[in-house]
Amino acid sequence: MMLLLFFFLLFLRQSPAEHCHPDDIAAILKFKNSFSNPQLLPSWTLDMDCCYIFDCDESNRIVDLTITYSDLSGTIPDAVADLTHLQTLRLKKMPFLAGEIPPAIGKMTQLVTLQISWTNISGHVPRFLANLQNLKIFDLSFNKLSGSIPPSLATFPDIIGLDLSRNQLTGPIPESFGHFPGKLPSISLSRNRLSGKIPASLANVNFFRVDISRNNLSGDASMFFGDSKSSDSIDISRNNFEFNFSQVRFMAPLVTLDISHNKIYGNIPSQITDAVVLQVLNVSYNRLCGEIPTGWKLSLLRQLTMVKLKPILTKWMFPNPNTALWLSQDLRIG
Ligand SMILES: *[C@@H]1O[C@H](CO)[C@@H](O)[C@H](O)[C@H]1NC(C)=O
Ligand SMILES: *[C@@H]1O[C@H](CO)[C@@H](O)[C@H](O)[C@H]1NC(C)=O
Ligand SMILES: *[C@@H]1O[C@H](CO)[C@@H](O)[C@H](O)[C@H]1NC(C)=O
Ligand SMILES: *[C@@H]1O[C@H](CO)[C@@H](O)[C@H](O)[C@H]1NC(C)=O
Repeated sequence: MMLLLFFFLLFLRQSPAEHCHPDDIAAILKFKNSFSNPQLLPSWTLDMDCCYIFDCDESNRIVDLTITYSDLSGTIPDAVADLTHLQTLRLKKMPFLAGEIPPAIGKMTQLVTLQISWTNISGHVPRFLANLQNLKIFDLSFNKLSGSIPPSLATFPDIIGLDLSRNQLTGPIPESFGHFPGKLPSISLSRNRLSGKIPASLANVNFFRVDISRNNLSGDASMFFGDSKSSDSIDISRNNFEFNFSQVRFMAPLVTLDISHNKIYGNIPSQITDAVVLQVLNVSYNRLCGEIPTGWKLSLLRQLTMVKLKPILTKWMFPNPNTALWLSQDLRIG
Protein backbone atom coordinates (compact mmCIF):
# COMPACT_ATOMS: atom_id res chain seq x y z
CA MET A 1 0.00 0.00 0.00
CA MET A 2 2.79 2.40 1.00
CA LEU A 3 4.62 1.44 -2.16
CA LEU A 4 1.55 2.19 -4.30
CA LEU A 5 1.17 5.55 -2.58
CA PHE A 6 4.83 6.26 -3.21
CA PHE A 7 4.50 5.60 -6.94
CA PHE A 8 1.31 7.62 -7.06
CA LEU A 9 3.12 10.59 -5.48
CA LEU A 10 6.06 10.15 -7.81
CA PHE A 11 3.66 10.13 -10.76
CA LEU A 12 1.96 13.28 -9.47
CA ARG A 13 5.34 15.03 -9.11
CA GLN A 14 6.50 14.15 -12.57
CA SER A 15 3.51 14.32 -14.82
CA PRO A 16 1.76 17.69 -14.96
CA ALA A 17 3.23 19.68 -17.80
CA GLU A 18 1.27 22.72 -16.65
CA HIS A 19 3.77 23.08 -13.82
CA CYS A 20 6.18 24.40 -16.41
CA HIS A 21 6.08 28.11 -17.07
CA PRO A 22 4.76 28.68 -20.64
CA ASP A 23 7.41 31.34 -21.31
CA ASP A 24 10.13 28.80 -20.49
CA ILE A 25 8.59 26.14 -22.76
CA ALA A 26 8.35 28.69 -25.58
CA ALA A 27 11.99 29.73 -25.07
CA ILE A 28 13.21 26.13 -24.98
CA LEU A 29 11.39 25.24 -28.22
CA LYS A 30 12.67 28.38 -29.93
CA PHE A 31 16.19 27.50 -28.74
CA LYS A 32 15.84 23.94 -30.03
CA ASN A 33 14.44 24.93 -33.41
CA SER A 34 17.20 27.38 -34.18
CA PHE A 35 19.60 24.48 -34.67
CA SER A 36 19.76 22.79 -38.06
CA ASN A 37 19.36 19.36 -36.44
CA PRO A 38 16.72 19.86 -33.69
CA GLN A 39 15.80 16.17 -33.96
CA LEU A 40 18.76 15.58 -31.63
CA LEU A 41 16.55 16.88 -28.82
CA PRO A 42 13.51 14.56 -29.18
CA SER A 43 12.30 14.95 -25.58
CA TRP A 44 12.03 18.74 -25.84
CA THR A 45 8.39 19.02 -26.90
CA LEU A 46 5.43 21.31 -26.25
CA ASP A 47 3.90 18.84 -23.78
CA MET A 48 7.12 17.94 -21.96
CA ASP A 49 7.36 18.29 -18.22
CA CYS A 50 10.25 20.68 -18.36
CA CYS A 51 10.93 20.57 -14.63
CA TYR A 52 11.58 16.87 -15.05
CA ILE A 53 14.03 17.47 -17.92
CA PHE A 54 15.57 20.67 -16.50
CA ASP A 55 16.28 21.95 -13.00
CA CYS A 56 13.62 24.39 -11.86
CA ASP A 57 13.31 26.71 -8.88
CA GLU A 58 10.37 26.68 -6.41
CA SER A 59 8.22 28.65 -8.85
CA ASN A 60 8.93 26.07 -11.59
CA ARG A 61 11.14 28.31 -13.66
CA ILE A 62 14.08 26.68 -15.45
CA VAL A 63 17.34 27.56 -13.70
CA ASP A 64 19.81 25.25 -15.46
CA LEU A 65 20.35 24.61 -19.15
CA THR A 66 23.18 22.13 -19.63
CA ILE A 67 23.97 20.47 -22.96
CA THR A 68 27.08 18.31 -23.20
CA TYR A 69 28.44 15.94 -25.84
CA SER A 70 26.03 17.03 -28.53
CA ASP A 71 26.33 17.39 -32.29
CA LEU A 72 23.74 20.18 -32.42
CA SER A 73 24.74 22.39 -35.29
CA GLY A 74 24.35 26.16 -35.48
CA THR A 75 25.08 29.29 -33.47
CA ILE A 76 24.09 30.00 -29.85
CA PRO A 77 20.40 30.93 -30.21
CA ASP A 78 19.29 34.36 -28.92
CA ALA A 79 16.29 32.57 -27.42
CA VAL A 80 18.54 31.38 -24.60
CA ALA A 81 18.14 34.85 -23.04
CA ASP A 82 14.34 34.32 -22.91
CA LEU A 83 15.02 31.84 -20.10
CA THR A 84 14.96 34.73 -17.66
CA HIS A 85 15.53 32.65 -14.51
CA LEU A 86 18.52 30.71 -15.77
CA GLN A 87 21.43 30.61 -13.33
CA THR A 88 23.53 27.99 -15.09
CA LEU A 89 24.21 27.90 -18.82
CA ARG A 90 26.54 25.11 -19.86
CA LEU A 91 27.25 24.27 -23.50
CA LYS A 92 30.12 21.81 -23.49
CA LYS A 93 31.67 19.45 -26.03
CA MET A 94 29.57 20.71 -28.92
CA PRO A 95 31.94 20.67 -31.91
CA PHE A 96 29.34 22.03 -34.34
CA LEU A 97 28.39 25.02 -32.20
CA ALA A 98 29.97 27.87 -34.14
CA GLY A 99 29.77 31.62 -34.72
CA GLU A 100 30.26 34.33 -32.11
CA ILE A 101 28.88 34.70 -28.59
CA PRO A 102 25.60 36.60 -29.21
CA PRO A 103 24.85 39.91 -27.41
CA ALA A 104 21.74 38.22 -25.96
CA ILE A 105 24.01 36.45 -23.45
CA GLY A 106 24.98 39.88 -22.06
CA LYS A 107 21.36 40.32 -20.89
CA MET A 108 21.42 37.20 -18.73
CA THR A 109 22.47 39.09 -15.62
CA GLN A 110 21.09 36.40 -13.30
CA LEU A 111 23.68 33.85 -14.49
CA VAL A 112 25.97 32.39 -11.81
CA THR A 113 27.70 29.85 -14.07
CA LEU A 114 28.54 30.44 -17.71
CA GLN A 115 30.39 27.66 -19.45
CA ILE A 116 30.86 27.52 -23.20
CA SER A 117 33.68 25.05 -23.64
CA TRP A 118 35.03 22.59 -26.24
CA THR A 119 33.01 24.21 -29.01
CA ASN A 120 33.83 25.83 -32.34
CA ILE A 121 32.80 29.29 -31.07
CA SER A 122 35.03 32.02 -32.49
CA GLY A 123 35.31 35.82 -32.52
CA HIS A 124 36.31 38.01 -29.58
CA VAL A 125 35.57 37.56 -25.89
CA PRO A 126 32.75 40.11 -25.89
CA ARG A 127 32.93 43.08 -23.53
CA PHE A 128 29.22 42.79 -22.76
CA LEU A 129 29.91 39.65 -20.74
CA ALA A 130 31.11 42.00 -17.99
CA ASN A 131 27.38 42.75 -17.41
CA LEU A 132 26.99 39.33 -15.83
CA GLN A 133 27.82 40.60 -12.35
CA ASN A 134 26.49 37.52 -10.54
CA LEU A 135 28.95 35.14 -12.19
CA LYS A 136 30.96 32.84 -10.00
CA ILE A 137 32.17 30.54 -12.76
CA PHE A 138 33.21 31.97 -16.13
CA ASP A 139 34.56 29.29 -18.45
CA LEU A 140 35.19 29.88 -22.14
CA SER A 141 38.04 27.37 -22.44
CA PHE A 142 38.78 25.16 -25.47
CA ASN A 143 37.19 27.33 -28.14
CA LYS A 144 38.49 29.37 -31.03
CA LEU A 145 38.26 32.79 -29.44
CA SER A 146 40.75 35.40 -30.61
CA GLY A 147 41.61 39.02 -29.89
CA SER A 148 42.54 40.42 -26.52
CA ILE A 149 41.09 39.87 -23.04
CA PRO A 150 38.61 42.67 -22.16
CA PRO A 151 39.86 44.45 -19.00
CA SER A 152 36.25 44.68 -17.74
CA LEU A 153 36.21 40.92 -17.07
CA ALA A 154 37.98 41.62 -13.78
CA THR A 155 34.89 43.21 -12.26
CA PHE A 156 32.79 40.17 -11.35
CA PRO A 157 32.36 40.66 -7.58
CA ASP A 158 31.90 37.00 -6.65
CA ILE A 159 34.10 35.28 -9.19
CA ILE A 160 35.62 31.95 -8.11
CA GLY A 161 36.96 30.69 -11.42
CA LEU A 162 37.82 32.38 -14.71
CA ASP A 163 39.02 30.09 -17.47
CA LEU A 164 39.97 31.28 -20.95
CA SER A 165 42.55 28.58 -21.59
CA ARG A 166 43.08 26.93 -24.96
CA ASN A 167 41.93 29.68 -27.25
CA GLN A 168 43.87 31.95 -29.60
CA LEU A 169 43.87 35.03 -27.43
CA THR A 170 46.55 37.65 -27.98
CA GLY A 171 47.75 40.79 -26.23
CA PRO A 172 48.62 41.22 -22.56
CA ILE A 173 46.93 40.18 -19.33
CA PRO A 174 44.95 43.33 -18.46
CA GLU A 175 46.27 45.42 -15.57
CA SER A 176 42.72 45.30 -14.16
CA PHE A 177 43.20 41.61 -13.33
CA GLY A 178 45.06 42.84 -10.25
CA HIS A 179 41.78 44.20 -8.90
CA PHE A 180 39.64 41.08 -8.79
CA PRO A 181 37.12 41.72 -6.05
CA GLY A 182 36.49 37.99 -5.37
CA LYS A 183 38.20 36.06 -2.61
CA LEU A 184 40.76 33.45 -3.71
CA PRO A 185 39.82 33.37 -7.38
CA SER A 186 41.33 30.79 -9.71
CA ILE A 187 42.45 31.90 -13.11
CA SER A 188 43.49 29.91 -16.16
CA LEU A 189 44.76 31.59 -19.30
CA SER A 190 47.04 28.77 -20.45
CA ARG A 191 47.67 27.81 -24.07
CA ASN A 192 46.87 31.09 -25.72
CA ARG A 193 49.15 33.56 -27.46
CA LEU A 194 49.27 36.15 -24.72
CA SER A 195 52.34 38.36 -24.70
CA GLY A 196 53.79 41.40 -23.01
CA LYS A 197 54.95 42.04 -19.46
CA ILE A 198 52.87 40.51 -16.74
CA PRO A 199 51.19 43.36 -14.78
CA ALA A 200 52.65 44.01 -11.32
CA SER A 201 49.09 44.69 -10.09
CA LEU A 202 48.52 40.92 -9.91
CA ALA A 203 50.42 41.04 -6.59
CA ASN A 204 47.18 42.38 -5.02
CA VAL A 205 45.25 39.17 -5.62
CA ASN A 206 45.43 36.04 -3.50
CA PHE A 207 44.85 33.49 -6.27
CA PHE A 208 43.89 29.95 -5.30
CA ARG A 209 45.11 28.52 -8.59
CA VAL A 210 47.01 30.30 -11.34
CA ASP A 211 47.72 28.72 -14.71
CA ILE A 212 49.17 31.06 -17.31
CA SER A 213 51.40 28.41 -18.87
CA ARG A 214 52.18 28.13 -22.57
CA ASN A 215 51.92 31.75 -23.61
CA ASN A 216 54.58 34.25 -24.55
CA LEU A 217 54.40 36.35 -21.40
CA SER A 218 57.50 38.09 -20.06
CA GLY A 219 58.69 40.09 -17.10
CA ASP A 220 58.75 39.35 -13.38
CA ALA A 221 56.14 36.81 -12.26
CA SER A 222 57.38 36.66 -8.67
CA MET A 223 54.26 38.52 -7.52
CA PHE A 224 52.39 35.20 -7.40
CA PHE A 225 54.58 34.14 -4.48
CA GLY A 226 54.67 35.32 -0.88
CA ASP A 227 54.25 33.57 2.45
CA SER A 228 51.05 35.52 3.16
CA LYS A 229 49.33 34.00 0.12
CA SER A 230 47.27 30.80 0.11
CA SER A 231 47.81 29.45 -3.40
CA ASP A 232 47.40 25.76 -4.00
CA SER A 233 48.82 25.66 -7.50
CA ILE A 234 50.99 27.94 -9.63
CA ASP A 235 51.87 27.11 -13.23
CA ILE A 236 53.79 29.77 -15.14
CA SER A 237 55.68 27.28 -17.34
CA ARG A 238 56.60 27.80 -20.98
CA ASN A 239 56.76 31.58 -21.11
CA ASN A 240 59.57 34.11 -21.18
CA PHE A 241 59.62 35.05 -17.51
CA GLU A 242 62.85 36.41 -16.16
CA PHE A 243 63.30 37.06 -12.44
CA ASN A 244 65.43 36.15 -9.46
CA PHE A 245 63.99 33.03 -7.85
CA SER A 246 66.26 33.49 -4.78
CA GLN A 247 63.99 36.24 -3.54
CA VAL A 248 60.74 34.30 -3.73
CA ARG A 249 58.88 33.26 -0.54
CA PHE A 250 56.74 30.12 -0.64
CA MET A 251 53.27 29.76 0.81
CA ALA A 252 52.50 26.81 3.07
CA PRO A 253 49.43 25.48 1.15
CA LEU A 254 51.31 25.13 -2.17
CA VAL A 255 50.76 21.68 -3.73
CA THR A 256 51.88 22.19 -7.34
CA LEU A 257 54.57 24.49 -8.69
CA ASP A 258 55.69 24.50 -12.31
CA ILE A 259 58.02 27.30 -13.41
CA SER A 260 59.74 25.22 -16.11
CA HIS A 261 60.79 26.53 -19.53
CA ASN A 262 61.43 30.18 -18.65
CA LYS A 263 64.54 32.28 -18.03
CA ILE A 264 64.29 32.31 -14.26
CA TYR A 265 67.63 32.73 -12.47
CA GLY A 266 69.03 32.63 -8.95
CA ASN A 267 68.73 29.57 -6.70
CA ILE A 268 65.98 27.57 -5.03
CA PRO A 269 65.43 29.35 -1.69
CA SER A 270 65.73 27.08 1.36
CA GLN A 271 62.43 28.50 2.58
CA ILE A 272 60.77 26.21 -0.01
CA THR A 273 60.75 23.59 2.76
CA ASP A 274 57.94 25.59 4.39
CA ALA A 275 55.73 24.35 1.53
CA VAL A 276 55.01 21.20 3.51
CA VAL A 277 52.34 19.77 1.21
CA LEU A 278 54.22 20.30 -2.06
CA GLN A 279 53.69 17.38 -4.43
CA VAL A 280 54.75 18.56 -7.88
CA LEU A 281 57.82 20.72 -8.40
CA ASN A 282 59.07 21.40 -11.89
CA VAL A 283 61.85 23.98 -12.11
CA SER A 284 63.48 22.48 -15.20
CA TYR A 285 64.73 24.46 -18.22
CA ASN A 286 65.59 27.72 -16.50
CA ARG A 287 68.81 29.46 -15.48
CA LEU A 288 68.82 28.35 -11.88
CA CYS A 289 72.03 27.44 -10.12
CA GLY A 290 73.28 26.77 -6.62
CA GLU A 291 72.46 24.03 -4.17
CA ILE A 292 69.18 22.29 -3.71
CA PRO A 293 67.95 23.01 -0.18
CA THR A 294 68.67 20.14 2.21
CA GLY A 295 66.17 21.00 4.92
CA TRP A 296 63.42 18.90 3.35
CA LYS A 297 61.26 17.34 6.00
CA LEU A 298 60.68 13.62 5.64
CA SER A 299 56.91 14.21 5.57
CA LEU A 300 57.45 16.44 2.56
CA LEU A 301 59.68 13.94 0.80
CA ARG A 302 57.06 11.24 1.09
CA GLN A 303 54.65 13.38 -0.82
CA LEU A 304 57.01 14.97 -3.28
CA THR A 305 56.42 12.49 -6.05
CA MET A 306 57.53 14.43 -9.10
CA VAL A 307 60.71 16.40 -9.14
CA LYS A 308 62.33 17.65 -12.30
CA LEU A 309 65.53 19.59 -12.00
CA LYS A 310 66.98 19.32 -15.48
CA PRO A 311 69.35 22.13 -16.36
CA ILE A 312 68.54 24.38 -19.28
CA LEU A 313 72.05 24.31 -20.76
CA THR A 314 74.11 21.28 -21.67
CA LYS A 315 76.21 22.16 -18.63
CA TRP A 316 74.80 20.73 -15.38
CA MET A 317 74.37 23.79 -13.23
CA PHE A 318 73.82 22.12 -9.88
CA PRO A 319 77.00 21.39 -7.94
CA ASN A 320 76.09 17.79 -7.22
CA PRO A 321 75.16 15.80 -10.34
CA ASN A 322 73.39 13.23 -8.14
CA THR A 323 71.05 15.78 -6.62
CA ALA A 324 67.95 14.58 -8.41
CA LEU A 325 68.91 11.02 -7.56
CA TRP A 326 69.43 12.00 -3.96
CA LEU A 327 65.84 13.18 -3.86
CA SER A 328 64.47 9.99 -5.36
CA GLN A 329 66.61 7.82 -3.03
CA ASP A 330 65.18 9.65 -0.06
CA LEU A 331 61.74 9.19 -1.51
CA ARG A 332 62.15 5.46 -1.32
CA ILE A 333 63.05 5.62 2.41
CA GLY A 334 59.47 6.67 3.17
C1 LIG B 1 34.94 24.96 -37.01
O1 LIG B 1 35.02 26.22 -37.66
C2 LIG B 1 35.95 26.27 -38.73
C3 LIG B 1 35.94 27.67 -39.27
O2 LIG B 1 36.17 28.57 -38.23
C4 LIG B 1 35.56 25.26 -39.78
O3 LIG B 1 36.52 25.25 -40.82
C5 LIG B 1 35.47 23.87 -39.17
O4 LIG B 1 35.01 22.94 -40.10
C6 LIG B 1 34.54 23.89 -37.97
N1 LIG B 1 34.55 22.60 -37.32
C7 LIG B 1 33.45 21.90 -37.11
C8 LIG B 1 33.63 20.61 -36.39
O5 LIG B 1 32.37 22.31 -37.45
C1 LIG C 1 57.42 36.35 -27.81
O1 LIG C 1 57.68 37.63 -27.25
C2 LIG C 1 58.95 38.15 -27.57
C3 LIG C 1 59.10 39.46 -26.84
O2 LIG C 1 59.00 39.26 -25.47
C4 LIG C 1 59.08 38.32 -29.08
O3 LIG C 1 60.38 38.77 -29.40
C5 LIG C 1 58.82 36.97 -29.76
O4 LIG C 1 58.80 37.14 -31.15
C6 LIG C 1 57.49 36.38 -29.32
N1 LIG C 1 57.34 35.05 -29.83
C7 LIG C 1 56.24 34.62 -30.42
C8 LIG C 1 56.25 33.21 -30.88
O5 LIG C 1 55.24 35.31 -30.56
C1 LIG D 1 69.36 37.15 -6.70
O1 LIG D 1 69.01 37.45 -5.36
C2 LIG D 1 69.98 37.05 -4.42
C3 LIG D 1 69.39 37.25 -3.03
O2 LIG D 1 68.82 38.51 -2.89
C4 LIG D 1 71.26 37.84 -4.66
O3 LIG D 1 72.24 37.42 -3.74
C5 LIG D 1 71.73 37.58 -6.07
O4 LIG D 1 72.87 38.36 -6.35
C6 LIG D 1 70.64 37.86 -7.08
N1 LIG D 1 71.09 37.41 -8.38
C7 LIG D 1 71.13 38.21 -9.43
C8 LIG D 1 71.67 37.63 -10.70
O5 LIG D 1 70.73 39.34 -9.41
C1 LIG E 1 56.98 19.57 -15.23
O1 LIG E 1 57.09 18.31 -14.59
C2 LIG E 1 55.87 17.72 -14.23
C3 LIG E 1 56.20 16.46 -13.49
O2 LIG E 1 57.04 15.61 -14.23
C4 LIG E 1 55.02 17.48 -15.46
O3 LIG E 1 53.77 16.94 -15.09
C5 LIG E 1 54.84 18.78 -16.20
O4 LIG E 1 54.14 18.55 -17.41
C6 LIG E 1 56.18 19.41 -16.50
N1 LIG E 1 55.91 20.73 -17.09
C7 LIG E 1 56.25 21.03 -18.32
C8 LIG E 1 55.93 22.41 -18.76
O5 LIG E 1 56.83 20.26 -19.07
